[in-house]
Formats: sequence, C-alpha cells, structure tokens
Amino acid sequence: MSDTARLILEGQEYEFPVLTGAENEKAIDISKLRGTTGYITMDPGFKNTGSTQSGITYLDGENGILRYRGYSIEELAEKASFMEVAYLLIYGDLPNAKELDYFNDSITHHTLVHENMKRFFDAFPLGAHPMGMLSSMVASLSTFYPESQNPNRDITDIDLTIHRLIAKIPTLAAQAYKHNVGLPTMYPKNNLSYVGNFMHMMWGVPAEEYEVDPIIESALNKLFILHADHEQNCSTSTVRVVGSSQANLYSSVSAGVSALWGPLHGGANQAVIEMLESIRAEGSPLQSWIDRAKDKTDSFRLMGFGHRVYKNFDPRARIIKKAADEVLGQLGIDDPVLDIAKQLEEVALNDEYFVQRGLYPNVDFYSGIIYRALGIPTDMFTVMFALGRLPGWIGQWKEMTENREPIGRPRQVYTGATHRGFVSLNDRK
Ligand code: CMC
Repeated sequence: MSDTARLILEGQEYEFPVLTGAENEKAIDISKLRGTTGYITMDPGFKNTGSTQSGITYLDGENGILRYRGYSIEELAEKASFMEVAYLLIYGDLPNAKELDYFNDSITHHTLVHENMKRFFDAFPLGAHPMGMLSSMVASLSTFYPESQNPNRDITDIDLTIHRLIAKIPTLAAQAYKHNVGLPTMYPKNNLSYVGNFMHMMWGVPAEEYEVDPIIESALNKLFILHADHEQNCSTSTVRVVGSSQANLYSSVSAGVSALWGPLHGGANQAVIEMLESIRAEGSPLQSWIDRAKDKTDSFRLMGFGHRVYKNFDPRARIIKKAADEVLGQLGIDDPVLDIAKQLEEVALNDEYFVQRGLYPNVDFYSGIIYRALGIPTDMFTVMFALGRLPGWIGQWKEMTENREPIGRPRQVYTGATHRGFVSLNDRK
C-alpha cells in the first residue's frame, strides 16, 4: 500500500507522507501543507485532526478498546491500584515494588498545602462550586513553588512538581468540599492510602477517628483508574496546548480542570444525575425525554449519551454499570435513579435515532450513581473526575514537553469584513 497521499489542487499534484501508528492507525502528515500549497485544512472541533504522536493511551472507538501503555482498561480496573496506574501513565511502565514504594512515599510526604491557601478558600462565597475553587487553587500552587515556572525544565524539578501536584490535589479537592458545605477542613493522614486519605479529608471530622470503608475505597480506586486518561480529549488537549507555550504544569493542569468542567465533557456526570432526578420528579414517560433529545429545535440532549470517539460502546461505561450494581448491593442501597437510568438506556438503545448515530451510554452515565451511593455530593462529581484524570494530564504534558512539541496555534479562514476606511464618530449613521 502507498505510504504517500496525493492531493490535486488547481491542477497541480502534491504528495504528503502517510504515518502509521503502532496499532496500524493511519494519518496523512499535512504539516508542510501550507508551506507547499498555501492552503490550510478546515476541521472544526478537530474531528479528523491528529495533534500529536503519543505513546500513552490507545483507543479504538469502533471496537470499544481502551489501553493505557498497552494494558487493557478492564485488567487495570480489576487488578491495579490508582497509584500504579498513575506511575504507568506518567513514567511509561508499571512500577516495580521499590519504585512504587518511592513514589508512594514521595507523594505521601507532599500532601500538606501551604497554610496561606486557607485564606484563599475563606474568600470564596459559601456554596462556591468546587470545580471553580479547584481550578483556582491548582493554578495558585505555581506561586508557592516558583521553581515550577522555569521553562528550561530540569528533570528533578519536573518530578518534584509532579509529585507535589498529585499529592496536593486530593487535599485541595477535600478542602473545596469542606468550604462548600461550611465544615472544618481536615489535615491529611500519612498512614492511609492515596484514596483512603482523600476519604478521611472528605468525610472525617476533627472530633472523631475516621475509619476507611474498604468497599468505598475500592470503588473510588476503580473509578479513578477508569478516568485516568483518554488520549487527546478536550481537557487533555487544553493541558497540552497551554503547556506548549512553556506554561508551568500547575497552570496547564488548572486550564485542564476548567475545560473538564463543561457539561459536554466531565461536567456531564453532574448533568446526568440532575437529568435523572428531573425525570423522577416530573414522572413523565421516558419516551418524552427521548423525543426532546431528538428534537433539533430543543437544545436538550440526553446527558451521558454519545461520544466523540466511541461509536459502538464505551468500555468504561460497561465496567461502571457493573460496578454500580455491585457497590449499591454491597452498601445495601436501593436507588430508584439507577432503575430510571437502566430503563432510559433500554429505550434509547432501541430507538432508531440513537442507533443510527451510534449514541451509547458513556463513562458519565452511571458514574454519578456510584458517587451518590458513596455519599459524594453532586457538585463534587466533576472534581472526582479531575482527581482521576490528573495522571493522564501530567503524562501527556510531560510527553509534550519531552518531545519539544511546537506551540499550539491553529489557523482560521477569515469571514469578516474586508478592508474599510475609518469613519469618524460624527459621520457614522
Ligand atoms: N442526545 C441527543 N443527540 C445527540 C447526543 C445526545 N446526548 N449526542 C449526540 N447527538 C446527536 C447530535 O445532535 C448529532 O445529530 P445530527 O447528526 O442529526 O446533527 C449527532 O448525534 C452527532 O453528534 P455531535 O454533537 O456531532 O457529536 P460530537 O462528537 O461532536 O459530540 C458529545 C460528542 C459527547 C459532546 C455529544 O455526544 C454530547 O453532547 N453528549 C452528551 C454530553 C455527554 O454525555 N458528555 C460526556 C462525554 S464522555 C466524558 C468525557 O470524556 O468527556
């Protein structure tokens, strides 16, 4: 098969190299297109545009395959700890026992945040959305650790920054929650696991010893792994583009948190539960919601359905649906919203509109139901996604930096007014 693509423009023929990925994915390398032809490509939403060659995550949307560094998501969710997966995504291989000990130890010893940050929290209004607080707090970490701002990135500085960020994000997330509900913040406890410590800071109170429930700890470990990376999605691309200007890791990840917040991306987990709650409260037939989602004059979409790359099924959704049944069963919770979700899935999957467009439940359809069962408030759902996605953002930022990728800067086709002379104020109509 030819390893070049031919393009005919205004009667002239040009050749462009074809790239083949490790899993036989094909791409036409048009990096020299404008220089040789004067043309650019147009691809709103980057639906067909590869922005990088990455060795981190492999995703086959047609066949529902997701692998981190070659390991299947099913196996990692079943057998690994979140810290092992974080190490894998960032450093390329699963850690051996010594490497994992060092990684855990380093992270455990950076969990405290500067006391001055408490004053930032105090300034937020009561009930402030935790995602807004988290994004600001992550960006402000750069002011406490100015060495992270050095664009000539030294490998030790980068590692320290990476460990600090992984260590501090659960502390900041839990503090955002405590501020949101007006409860005293808890200091981290270094004898607990990464997830256990987060639970202690979320649900512990100063007067009592908090006991980590292994069912909740294991469910959160699995959810974090399922969210840990998803190649060039909206927030990850944001992190890479911000980082491509040589902005520091904290600022780049803060931008990723903001991108994740939107309801079409990570914010969908909050939107799904709100939608299911409305369906329950209104009691109207499920078909009427499906009809609204199909109606092009109505902006309503079935939240938790559809995906830019999965057109058959989302492997994460399959694992989460099963986990939702297990976790609710183990905790003895009967949530009517889970039944509504299953019925809605059934109706949608048999509807021609959804079938034709390849719209299936995505990772966010069932995750909110588990978060709710675990006692996590709705406002915190997207924060949970951010905690899980952090190692992916870091791994992708590190890869982009090590590959010395050029600054991200797309082109456009201008459609505004052509040149016109300035009209003084008195002469304007
Ligand atoms: N409900 C109703 N119609 C939909 C939906 C939906 N949830 N999703 C897509 N469509 C329709 C859309 O109207 C379009 O129809 P037509 O071809 O007739 O114009 C067609 O399906 C293709 O949709 P699109 O918007 O071009 O697809 P996209 O790849 O740009 O968008 C998406 C992907 C995830 C933003 C979209 O499916 C959506 O808005 N879903 C609901 C929000 C959601 O659950 N987001 C979480 C994504 S998974 C977590 C993450 O990693 O971010």
